[in-house]
Amino acid sequence: MEYTADSIFSQFLWLILFLSASAAVVVARAAASRRRRRLPPGSLGLPLIGETLQLISAYRTENPEPFIDERVAKCGAVFTTHVFGEATVFSADPETNRTVLQNEGRLFESSYPGSISNLLGRHSLLLMRGGHHKRMHSLTAATFANAAVIRDHLLLDVDRLVRLNMDAWTGRVTLMDQAKKITFELTVKQLMSIDPCEWSEDLMKEYMLVIEGFFTVPLPFLSISYTRAIQARRKVAEALATVVRERRKGPRKYDMLGALLDEENSGRVLTDEEIVDFMVALLVAGYETTSTIMTLAVKYLTETPLALAQLKNEQDEIMARKREDYSLQWEDYKSMSFTQCVINETLRMANIISGVFRRTTTDVAVNEGYTIPKGMRVFASFRAVHMNYRHFKDARTFNPWRWPSNGSEITNCATNVFTPFGGGPRRCPGAELARVELSVFLHRLVTQFSWIPAEQDKVVFFPTTRTQKRYPIIVQRRSNHEL
Ligand code: HEM
Repeated sequence: MEYTADSIFSQFLWLILFLSASAAVVVARAAASRRRRRLPPGSLGLPLIGETLQLISAYRTENPEPFIDERVAKCGAVFTTHVFGEATVFSADPETNRTVLQNEGRLFESSYPGSISNLLGRHSLLLMRGGHHKRMHSLTAATFANAAVIRDHLLLDVDRLVRLNMDAWTGRVTLMDQAKKITFELTVKQLMSIDPCEWSEDLMKEYMLVIEGFFTVPLPFLSISYTRAIQARRKVAEALATVVRERRKGPRKYDMLGALLDEENSGRVLTDEEIVDFMVALLVAGYETTSTIMTLAVKYLTETPLALAQLKNEQDEIMARKREDYSLQWEDYKSMSFTQCVINETLRMANIISGVFRRTTTDVAVNEGYTIPKGMRVFASFRAVHMNYRHFKDARTFNPWRWPSNGSEITNCATNVFTPFGGGPRRCPGAELARVELSVFLHRLVTQFSWIPAEQDKVVFFPTTRTQKRYPIIVQRRSNHEL
């Protein structure tokens, strides 16, 4: 073979090209592997406080969205931040949220700060793990969420207690307070078959102090509200323990407490402390959530007269089929299709549980090749998905007509973008009950009253979703000729 200057040069060129290409592959592989092990991008903010102050100031306003929008625009739908004392991976991505929810107990575990665990009680469903959690979650779902139980027992109680409370309404009504009173009485009834009485009123006073504790700075020696909450929690526990002891001696009743006591028949004896913790947590889980959605549904309807008119028509038609002094039946609830659209839309806009905290139990690969290391805190944000224009057209406007007219949430559930009740093994066991309570509340409200807001009020999102003035309204009873 003859080596000319030209052929030597071209072979040299090929060698350079080959070496460069190999080097590029090695560098790309190394970068990919580094990237695989890297946390999602983001900013940890200031030492110790991280980005907590930015988050709080955004969520104290009517429009908290910029906090998430800015970070998603800069870093993508899964980013790292540092809030409430800890670096946290924040997910605004429906697929990542699904992975977090569905892998509960495998790749992720629910995680609450110690201050919250103290108030809930260590035997509460929210803190249970593994097989015991699975068993108790099913028991709760069977007692609370089972359609047959709601149809045959709970619906009548819900309707009766809502009517009883509304019978006393005249003039100015602070809606949030009334909604809380109703949901508290309902939960006490469903847990242990106790109707509203002096005992339940006293219990509610203590219980409200416990709830305040969830939203205060958890420093036992510095925060008066937190210390007061712990003391009130003890009193609530004592009151419930007395009921448990009485019930152990008496006849069986078909309520949550009955189901817990029946656990003994299946070979597992629950102590009084376990039963009390379990019931305290159920009182907490259903109270703030359902009452806030009741209040906000009314606020959104008041501000959207066309939706209110359509809902009124639907409910008036149900009432027109009835005699005086009727009780709502399961078929009535099932025929409230536009009402379900209003409830879906209120759940989507208000996001009373804006997302869930979890902790990784191992290194977990997420979105675009990033890795969340073992033991790190993760926040799967439902709000970020519900408010995203890619998933919901005109996402930041209240529009109940976006939902299918049969009121179902199926279309969006299929793509994991609508998760107001969470998902996976910890999906809210009270979801159906909450829908029934909301539907009955709206039925009785619009068929009996017209109202106007008593004052300007606005929705804020920290420490929880709420209206600043607890939404005061002036109610007027609808006269017969109006119906
Ligand atoms: C509009 C009303 C409600 C909303 C938006 C709501 C939302 C949620 C969400 C998102 C979760 C999941 C938490 C997680 O994955 O860590 C949850 C859990 C739970 N909810 Fe609800 N909820 C509502 C009403 C109720 C009611 C009425 C009850 C029962 C009285 C209830 C009982 C529970 C319980 C016990 C859990 C814990 C489940 C577990 O950890 O296994 N909720 N709820």
